[in-house]
Amino acid sequence: MTELAVPRRPTATHLSTDEVRAAIEAEIAARWPDGAAGLDAIHRYALQAPGKLLRPLLLCHSALAFGASLHQVLPAAVGFECAHTGSLLHDDILDNDPLRRGRPAVHTRYGVEQAIVAGNALFFALFTHLAECGDRGISDDRIRQALAVQARAGLDVCRGAAHELTLAGDFDSGVAAYMSMARRKTAVMLAAACQIGGILAGAACQEQEKLTEFGEHLGLAFQIRDDLLPYDDAIGRSGKPGDSDLRNRRPTLPVLLALDRADQSDQRALRHLLTTDTYAPGAQQQLSRLLRRSGALAEARQTADRHARAAGDALTRLPPGPHVEALKQLTR
Ligand code: IPE
Ligand code: IPE
Ligand code: MG
Repeated sequence: MTELAVPRRPTATHLSTDEVRAAIEAEIAARWPDGAAGLDAIHRYALQAPGKLLRPLLLCHSALAFGASLHQVLPAAVGFECAHTGSLLHDDILDNDPLRRGRPAVHTRYGVEQAIVAGNALFFALFTHLAECGDRGISDDRIRQALAVQARAGLDVCRGAAHELTLAGDFDSGVAAYMSMARRKTAVMLAAACQIGGILAGAACQEQEKLTEFGEHLGLAFQIRDDLLPYDDAIGRSGKPGDSDLRNRRPTLPVLLALDRADQSDQRALRHLLTTDTYAPGAQQQLSRLLRRSGALAEARQTADRHARAAGDALTRLPPGPHVEALKQLTR
C-alpha cells in the first residue's frame, strides 16, 4: 500500500483531551451498542464503565502530535483500551477483587469462566482494531511496526504479572525488584501506547524513543500512584477494593520503603500485619497508620512525582505543540 502523505507536524485543528475522550467513548458506544448479546454483552459491560481512558488518550495525542488525524488512529486507540480492559478482567480474578470501576467486576457479574474468555477475546480485538487503521489510510508498514511493538508489550505485561505473583508475600525482594515488575506490568503498556501513536503518524525513530521514554516514566509514576490509592482513598473513590494489596500480600513501594525506614518496633508490627494479620479487622487502617508514620507514603509519592517530572522532561525534546502539551498535562 502506498503511504498517505500525512503532514509531519500538527495540523491547524487541535483537539483537546476532552474532545479526544468524547470521540473514544462514542467509538466504543457505537461498536458495542445497547442490546448486544453473548460475549458482546460482556464486552459492552466491561468497556462501558467509565475508566480514565489513559492509554487510548496517550495513543491519540501522540499520533496527533505528529500529524495523523483522529479518524485514522481511533480504531487503534479503541483496540488498546480493549487490551487494557482484558488485562483488568484477568487481574481482578488474580487479585480476587470483586469490584472494578465502582461496580461489580466482570467475574463477579458473569462468573470467572466467562471473564477469562472475555478477557482473551479482548486481546484479539486489539489486533482487529489495529488492522482497521489500514482502511483509514495508515500504511501496512506502519501497522506492521505498531503490531510488533504491541505484541512485545503484551508479552512484557504477562511477564510482569507473573513476576508479581512470585513476589507475593516476599517483603525482602527490595525496591529494584518492585520497579522491574512495575515497569513490565504497567509502564511498558503506556510506553507502547505513545510509541504506537507516533508510529502510526510517521514519527522518526528518535521521536518514537522520546515518546517511549515519556510513557515509561509516566507508567512508573502511574503504578506507584495506584499503589498509594488505598492509603489516600480508603473509602474507595478509586472504585476498587482498598484492601486488595494487603490481602494479596503485595510488596508495593510504600510497604517496602516502610519496612526499611520505620523504627524497629513499627517494622515488627508491619511484618506481623503483612504476614499474619492480613485479614484482621482494621488491618488496612493500621497499615495506613504505620506507612504514614514511617514517612513511606510521602517518599513513595516523591518517587512518583520524580518519574512524572522525568516524563515531562522527555517531552521537552519533542517538537512543541498542543498535543505534546496535552501529553504533559496527562502526567498530572
Ligand atoms: C489500572 O489502570 C491498572 C493499573 C495499571 C494500575 P487504570 O487506573 O488506567 O484503570 P482504568 O482504565 O482507568 O479503570
Ligand atoms: C494492574 O495491577 C494490572 C495490570 C497492569 C494488568 P494492579 O492490581 O496493581 O491494578 P489495580 O489496582 O487492580 O487496578
Ligand atoms: Mg489488581
